[in-house]
Amino acid sequence: MTQISPSTKLFAVFGNPVGHSMSPQMHNAAFAYQGIDAVYLAFAVDDAVKAILAMKALSIGGASVTIPFKEEVMELLDEIDPLAQRIGAVNTVLNRNGRLIGYNTDGMGATQALTDKVILQNRSVCILGAGGAARSVAYGLREKGAHVIICNRSVDRGKKLADELSVSFYPLSAIDSFPCDILVNTTSVGMLPNVLDIPVPESMLHPNMVVMDIVYNPLKTALLKAAEIRGCTIIDGLSMFVYQGAFQFELWTQIQAPLEVMRNAVLQALTKHK
Ligand code: ATR
Repeated sequence: MTQISPSTKLFAVFGNPVGHSMSPQMHNAAFAYQGIDAVYLAFAVDDAVKAILAMKALSIGGASVTIPFKEEVMELLDEIDPLAQRIGAVNTVLNRNGRLIGYNTDGMGATQALTDKVILQNRSVCILGAGGAARSVAYGLREKGAHVIICNRSVDRGKKLADELSVSFYPLSAIDSFPCDILVNTTSVGMLPNVLDIPVPESMLHPNMVVMDIVYNPLKTALLKAAEIRGCTIIDGLSMFVYQGAFQFELWTQIQAPLEVMRNAVLQALTKHK
């Protein structure tokens, strides 16, 4: 922990609830490791307008924005990065000399976690789900030249996202009816306490597939366990979470994010929560 002084810079996460957020542990560990005089605190907020005004009033250096404010916050900022604009959601705010700029690092985080293991260009990526996380991931991957396919339980919601992205849609029941090189689960299926739930039939998992889950509690979901047994390359949800945080850290500090330190801090926090 940094030595708090009058010059200590404040960073924050705004959301509701934020009680289980792993971001404070992750960012404070990164600040401490890089010797940055800053602290990161979680604020459970009722009103996004007041939170944004507070950022200006208190010169908060930057903020993570989480559920339920990722969309609402956009109209309150001075500038929105083009990728965040396309996604339609902001998860990061940078305070640049009083001007608040919104970014979306969720999609970048997913993309980076995947590109560590696989080339995305011209690969078929099936995204399970059509909620906010699916949107960010789909836009991020499409930017990298992947052929995105949206696969969702409810047809209306899935089709809407697919149409917006100009990509194909399949209902979840038809998941094994099209080729898929990379599978990304953006649904909450398999998250604690429902750790035995798996969103797809195991029979669709084959050895050349890369399977990423954005669920990180548990770290190895039933989907990842099954994928590993079937010889797939697996990527856990912590990778995306740490990368989205690393991009935030770099936007705020212009200093390289210490990935291992951040990952270990979250792992430690997850163990404590058990
Ligand atoms: P987020 O914004 O965090 O992505 P969300 O908006 O609640 O969360 O979206 C959750 C996604 O997970 C949806 O696509 C949802 O499918 P529906 O559109 O059919 O509701 C999907 N999902 C949640 N539980 C699921 C389940 N048990 N099986 C299949 N899909 C599920």
